[in-house]
Amino acid sequence: MDYAFRSDYIDDPKLKRQFIDFLIDIHGLDLSLWDRLGFWDRKYRPFSFFDGDTLIASLCLFTMDMTVLGKKCKVAQISGVGTVDKYRRQGLNSELTKRAMKWAQTDHEFFFLFSDLEAFPFYKHSGFRRVKEHMILHTLTPTGTIAGAVKLDIERKDHLDLIYRCALEREPVSDLLGINNAQLLLFWCLYFLQDYIYYIEAYDLLILYKREDNHLTVFDIVAGKMPSFTEIYPYIASPQDKTVEFRFMPDKLGLDRYEERPLKEDNGTHLFGDFPLENRSFIFPHTCIA
Ligand SMILES: CC(C)(COP(=O)(O)OP(=O)(O)OC[C@H]1O[C@@H](n2cnc3c(N)ncnc32)[C@H](O)[C@@H]1OP(=O)(O)O)[C@@H](O)C(=O)NCCC(=O)NCCS
Repeated sequence: MDYAFRSDYIDDPKLKRQFIDFLIDIHGLDLSLWDRLGFWDRKYRPFSFFDGDTLIASLCLFTMDMTVLGKKCKVAQISGVGTVDKYRRQGLNSELTKRAMKWAQTDHEFFFLFSDLEAFPFYKHSGFRRVKEHMILHTLTPTGTIAGAVKLDIERKDHLDLIYRCALEREPVSDLLGINNAQLLLFWCLYFLQDYIYYIEAYDLLILYKREDNHLTVFDIVAGKMPSFTEIYPYIASPQDKTVEFRFMPDKLGLDRYEERPLKEDNGTHLFGDFPLENRSFIFPHTCIA
């Protein structure tokens, strides 16, 4: 293999641009906005092979602070994985995976990733195991409503600043499996959840949720101190609501009852290393997917 290996090059604008273009080609995802707004830092670290000046295979290791069973730890998520078509099946990405994991293994507790179906054999080859996640389904009790949830607009600087402040000051959404990564939360707010961000001033919190028919999906609640869901719900309630699904573990929400259901849109979750929740039902917080 006669290709140049490069890592940790995000301070080099030319190489970074190549990486951004590569991700657009392979995954149709353009990180330029996230980058321009200053949310890409060294915790999102590429490992890549170049053929001459051309990036031909790459992955990113996203280091993140997690709370797992009440304990704070550093973990790593692998994302942005791809090899240019004509360079595939030459062992390039498995070599990058080896190098990235070797770099991280001393101070990261475990590795995880979310994958498309087609890449499952590749991750299996690299030693990852497939796990299933479960969402939390709660039947809503009718409640009165309280005005005061403001829909935020990411085009407005004051709203974006508010989101970022809440993201920086948050506590993890769960003590069982929670995450603190303000930059990644901003990624979700900019790219996928921009229409679903609400601020409740009374609790100084963000709730990211959508309503389809009589069903709510709550992706995240970003709070310095988490109120119970009974306290939050009146701010977003509608009389037709029947059920709510949480895309994170609900241990802080004070729910009296709920069901755990296999996630419909499978995230293709894979793990490597010791994962303390493996023998029970769990879900990674939705907004930790990179
Ligand atoms: C998945 C991908 C990154 C693999 O990259 P690669 O550089 O070709 O991977 P490697 O050559 O290191 O593959 C190592 C092993 O993984 C397995 N593997 C890789 N691609 C595979 C495929 N398409 N089908 C079945 N097994 C595969 C094989 O066991 C392979 O070893 P072998 O070639 O000796 O049989 C590449 O196919 C790709 O970019 N796909 C499109 C983007 C994508 O799916 N990214 C991941 C999304 S989460």
